[in-house]
Parts: sequence; C-alpha cells; structure tokens
Amino acid sequence: MQVRPRRLRTSAALRALVRETQVTPAHLVLPMFVREGEGEATPIGSMPGHARLSVDRLVERAAEAQGLGISGVALFPVIDDAEKDPRGSASAKPDGLLQRAVRALKRALPELLVVTDVALDPYSSDGHDGVLVDGRIDNDETLPILAEMALSQARAGADVVAPSDMMDGRVGAIRSALDAAELTDVAIGSYCAKYASSFYGPFREALDSAPRAGDKKTYQMDPANAREALRELALDEAEGADWVMVKPGLPYLDVIRLFREHTRLPVAAYHVSGEYSMLKAAAEHGWLDYDACLLESLVSLKRAGADVIFSYGALDAARLLG
Ligand code: PBG
Repeated sequence: MQVRPRRLRTSAALRALVRETQVTPAHLVLPMFVREGEGEATPIGSMPGHARLSVDRLVERAAEAQGLGISGVALFPVIDDAEKDPRGSASAKPDGLLQRAVRALKRALPELLVVTDVALDPYSSDGHDGVLVDGRIDNDETLPILAEMALSQARAGADVVAPSDMMDGRVGAIRSALDAAELTDVAIGSYCAKYASSFYGPFREALDSAPRAGDKKTYQMDPANAREALRELALDEAEGADWVMVKPGLPYLDVIRLFREHTRLPVAAYHVSGEYSMLKAAAEHGWLDYDACLLESLVSLKRAGADVIFSYGALDAARLLG
C-alpha cells in the first residue's frame, strides 16, 4: 500500500470536508481612517481602496462592512497639525473628531463593534506614541494621558479600547481608570506584541504621523525577539487585557502561534498597512492575484492561531467569502 495524501485533495467537496481552518467575516475587523468635513474621501496613495473618510462617509462604509458580516471597525483619526501638541491634548476632547466618529457609528450601527486606538501619535506634534521629555519617551508621564484618552473614547461609546503605544503598565492604568468610572464592560484589546516594524509606513502616510525625530525602537519590540513577547503577554494578562494582539501579521506567524500555545485569551493579529500595500502594488503590476493572495494571507493568520484579524482587506475578503 502506498500512502497517498493527494487522495483527499481530489475534489472540491473532499477538500472542503477536511479543511482545518476557516476565515469568516465575523472574525474580521476593518481599520478605517477618519477626517474632518462632510462628503469627503481623500485617497491614500500607498493604500489603494482606502481613503481618509469624513464621518458621514465613514458611517456608510461601516454599514457596508456590517452588511457583509464583519464584526467591527477600528478607527484612526487624521488630526490637523494645528491641533497637535507634545502631550497630545486633543486626544481626550469629548467633542474631538474620534469621539464624534464613535458616537455617529454607535448611533447608526449599534451592533457593530467599535475599536479605538489608544496612543499619542495621531495627536502628538512629535509623532511619538508617548510623551517626549528631554529627548526620551517618558513612560510614566504617558500613562495618565493614555488612561484619559481611553476614558474619553469609552464615554463616546467605544466597545473595545486598544492601546497600541507599548508603554509599560498601560493596560493596568487603563483598566483602573475604566473601572473607577464604572465602565466595566468596555474591553481592552491590547496591542501586546507590537514590533518596531517598517511595515507601518503606509499607515503613517495616511495619518501624517511619522515620528518627527528618531524612531519607535525604545518602546516597540525588536523584530528579532519572540521570547520577550511572552513577557509582554504575561504582563498584559495580569493587568487585565481581554485580548492580546500580535502586530504585524504575516512576518510574525511564529509569535501568533506562541501566543496561541501560552494563553487562554483570544489572540488577535494585525495584517498591517504595509502588508496590504504590498499586495495592492504587486496586483497593480499584474504580478499577483490580489483576491487570492489576500484570502491566503488571512487563512494563514488564522491557521497560526489568530482568532481575530484586523485587515485593510476585510471588506474585500468578506465580499469574496460571501
Ligand atoms: C499607532 C499605530 C500604528 C499602527 C496602529 N496604531 C503605527 C505605529 O505604531 O507607528 C500601525 C497600523 C498599520 O500599519 O496598519 N500607535
């Protein structure tokens, strides 16, 4: 007898029957960029198919996502330079752009999950995720600002606040602030193993949020480290994170798998802007099939152990899967 694994690949029905991993729209979160104005959609050069949307257009797009079965959206605000300062003070304004966007979404689409990003960079005149003091990012000066930002987002109606800043102790600081304000049902989706990655380039173009000086290597993780991700995992679990994210996605499948094996929390993966842009650029040249490569990317993230996937291709994927 010869062992023939190909036998189970002979028909679409057999392949479907023995398929180990399924991506469904319910597991996807669509990241979106929001700007001021009305009826506006400013294209983002490096992210074809995505634009900076005014709140009305954002709600339309989110409705489309919900209609396709996508569970949530993640919001990133484009803040005018005039509003930026070293402490990102605009981030906790009750009537700030992000807060207005959250309220509009929850009013129009109460069932759709709204995930908000907690970090200073969209609001910071330095383009960093924390406060710069004497040329260094000051961890403990930053924590209360993050807590205030998260509170403000939660009060606007965010279902999940997602700290992406990589300050030590931020999950605990945010949880305490939310609990003290009796916002106990607001979840924390921690960007737990967030690497100092060059794949965030297109995102920083979209928000005009690149660091004005230096880089993010003193707070985001070294791409060479996996063991260290388990230290971040243990801390975030102890501080009360409700899910733990690995970011970027495809270059870090080993870290996703490591998390899957070490935690009972849901694991999220962020298929980041650069990963999306690479697919789009290659497809524009006719070098790759965007649809097929997108679905393969998402199923690979799932196979590695991600329960939740943030992807700029979420709408496209949901259409393809539907
Ligand atoms: C901000 C933040 C970044 C991303 C999500 N939140 C950029 C950064 O850390 O510089 C990147 C997302 C992407 O590239 O899609 N703290």
